Amino acid sequence: MIIQKTTNSKVGQFDPNNFEFGDHFIDHMLICEYENGAWGEAKIVPYGALPFSPANMAFNYGQACFEGMKAYKDAEGEIFLFRPEKNYARINKSATRLAMPEVPEEVFINGLKALMDIDRDWIPHGEDKALYIRPLIFATEEALKARVANKYMFAIVAAPSKSYYAAPVAVKISDYYSRAASGGVGFAKAAGNYAASFYPTQLAIEEGYDQIIWTDDSTHEYFEESGTMNVMVRINDEIFTPPTSDKILDGVTRDSFINLAKKNGITVHETPVAVKKVIEAIKDGSLKEIWGVGTAVVTTQFRMVGYKGEQYELPVLSKEESFALTLKEELLGIQANRMEDPFGWRQKVEKGFAQQFEK
Ligand code: COI
Repeated sequence: MIIQKTTNSKVGQFDPNNFEFGDHFIDHMLICEYENGAWGEAKIVPYGALPFSPANMAFNYGQACFEGMKAYKDAEGEIFLFRPEKNYARINKSATRLAMPEVPEEVFINGLKALMDIDRDWIPHGEDKALYIRPLIFATEEALKARVANKYMFAIVAAPSKSYYAAPVAVKISDYYSRAASGGVGFAKAAGNYAASFYPTQLAIEEGYDQIIWTDDSTHEYFEESGTMNVMVRINDEIFTPPTSDKILDGVTRDSFINLAKKNGITVHETPVAVKKVIEAIKDGSLKEIWGVGTAVVTTQFRMVGYKGEQYELPVLSKEESFALTLKEELLGIQANRMEDPFGWRQKVEKGFAQQFEK
């Protein structure tokens, strides 16, 4: 690994009490180029723009995928990553589906830890605060023939993060647009999945909603995901969440919530969630809460769902009563080293980790 440190750190200009999610970037980024069938040496360099032609194949044909993960700082200033091996496995799954090369483990894991070590001062400490990390792979070849590219870049950029939504959200259950189709790329973190979601989301926002609950593309009768999150429904005291499939992202937060819920004795059903069943449960009062889970948001409670012109207010439970909020607190406690980690999910980034790569 090549490490070139900046001589112009911006960390002193960053106010950890006054920023928006993802609007300030840490001093360095990792880049690694792929050509002639092999990955080159990874480099950590000062963060900045890269020169790409408009004929870059990623811009034209969308060979691009990414990950979302976070680093946390505890009260002693130690840095922790959360289940990074899950993001490593998933980026390669996404890359394979988009006909892109897999990234070697040492480039991803050692590169990530070295970057976190070098820019540890950027990682904010405090409730709901973390560093949001964005690893990505994209085509870099300049060519217009519609085919698999021969050149790629793996990069990691990162930005301090805090609560994504300020308050519980209103969501529209989609009865027309779909996020993913059977046999498609819904399970992958393909950049194009997000592009395809923006227009329907914009229409929902114009109707007064914050997000969409995506339903299956063939019948629109079953929940899939919500916005950029997995979705969970509590009926009485049991949780229902759609099973992962080729249309649904295998979310790390989703999996962590399921494990924490089970550890707390809560029954979790990974099973198709019918819109009809949810509406009936709202009407008969057995529906206790609906929420979204994802790396960026951690958890967001839903306060209302709209379906085919009807709007249904949902209970928004207090911290004491809500599964969404108690599981969130437990998860954040594990992530930020405030609680025991019975699953071994946390990985400490040792101070000086990057030194072994400095030549
Ligand atoms: C994440 O939670 O990491 C996401 O993918 C959401 C992001 C698109 C902001």
